Amino acid sequence: MKYLNLLVDEIQRIHDANTYKFETAFSSPQAGTVNVKGKNVVMMASNNYLGMSNHPVVKKAAIEAIKEYGYGMASVRFICGTQTIHLELEKKISKFVGTEATILFSSAFAANNAFFPSLLNEKLGYETYRDVIYTDALNHASIIDGMRLCKTETTDKKIYRHNDVTHLEELLHADINADYRFKIIATDGVFSMEGDLAHIDTLAALAQKYNAVLFVDDCHAIGVVGKSGRGTPEYFKVHGKVDVLSGTLGKAIGGALGGYVSGKKELIEYLRQKARPYTFSNSLPPPVVMASIAAFDLLMKDRSIVKRLHDNTAYFRKEIKALGFHILEGDHPIVPVMLGDASLAQEMSKALLKDGVYVKGLWFPVVPKGEARLRVQISAALSKKDLDRALNAFESVGRKMNVLS
Ligand SMILES: Cc1ncc(COP(=O)(O)O)c(C=O)c1O
Repeated sequence: MKYLNLLVDEIQRIHDANTYKFETAFSSPQAGTVNVKGKNVVMMASNNYLGMSNHPVVKKAAIEAIKEYGYGMASVRFICGTQTIHLELEKKISKFVGTEATILFSSAFAANNAFFPSLLNEKLGYETYRDVIYTDALNHASIIDGMRLCKTETTDKKIYRHNDVTHLEELLHADINADYRFKIIATDGVFSMEGDLAHIDTLAALAQKYNAVLFVDDCHAIGVVGKSGRGTPEYFKVHGKVDVLSGTLGKAIGGALGGYVSGKKELIEYLRQKARPYTFSNSLPPPVVMASIAAFDLLMKDRSIVKRLHDNTAYFRKEIKALGFHILEGDHPIVPVMLGDASLAQEMSKALLKDGVYVKGLWFPVVPKGEARLRVQISAALSKKDLDRALNAFESVGRKMNVLS
């Protein structure tokens, strides 16, 4: 107990109030508007891009799954945690993203943690070897942690400047005669703090030219990017040409949880043998699996949901700029409203909540120092009325806080 108290004192001593993240609880489904302490507010902070978190078809599938397949699996996949629906979902994802096979994980975080060490920490018949991962400077924490799980004795990490394909090519070129076993280029498809897209077409070409494997985490792109929501490969016209894709079921695709890695079938079968988060962690529960299947079916049947998301995004981006806010340009539903100062971002987020908009501020260390922002996320669940209500609140709060140009 004495040591625990010392630890707590130390935590309090080093705690930096500027990095404090506060949680605002609400008591309604994740939808276009939510209920915060009895007040209806427009939700602009969720990854519920397609509004599927509260979609009747998705919810019905989850309820039916509980009736037919039960609530939980009480097992990892290889012992007794595989139902036919798990296999069906894996097939569905492969079909949607254009790969041979898919392996499910409990989250995309787990999927990314699994991929790198499973492949790179194994000798695979080599007496000695070295591998290298070329990684974008702004890759998601789960890729960073996945790389950290690779043995430093055998894995080099080379960080290229964010979205700088010229810098990446310099690094690849410098290694042209190096005796690497595997070279992997790892990138987010969409960067979650900026809402910008990696240049997947150029990356695929570079991977080809320099004999590297291209790994793309398409968590913020699946269901979101491309006319039919098939992600960054669709957007850059390289659908079916990215070596390895990872993604989540916790954002556009129903928004519950779950992740996957998709690629060549030999690689996926290999991961089933070697991936520790797959072997040693529980299988996805039936309601999540069935609801995810329903979400993919909806997407494949009806492109209008994705179109609504794209239309909402274009409308909000245009109008928020017209009000005089500075945003990061692009066409993704992640719309960073740049403020610079961390306390301004905190204050503005609080003021907007009072005015009926739920949006969160991000500041260092989540984003670079001096680049604090509000990260707006647009959803197909938002009506024109919701968007206008939010824009009015932004205008009035922005004016009061003197941040409009
Ligand atoms: C780019 C990226 N990769 C991975 C993840 C992790 O996804 P999951 O919630 O399925 O673990 C996230 C979620 O924040 C993400 O933004």
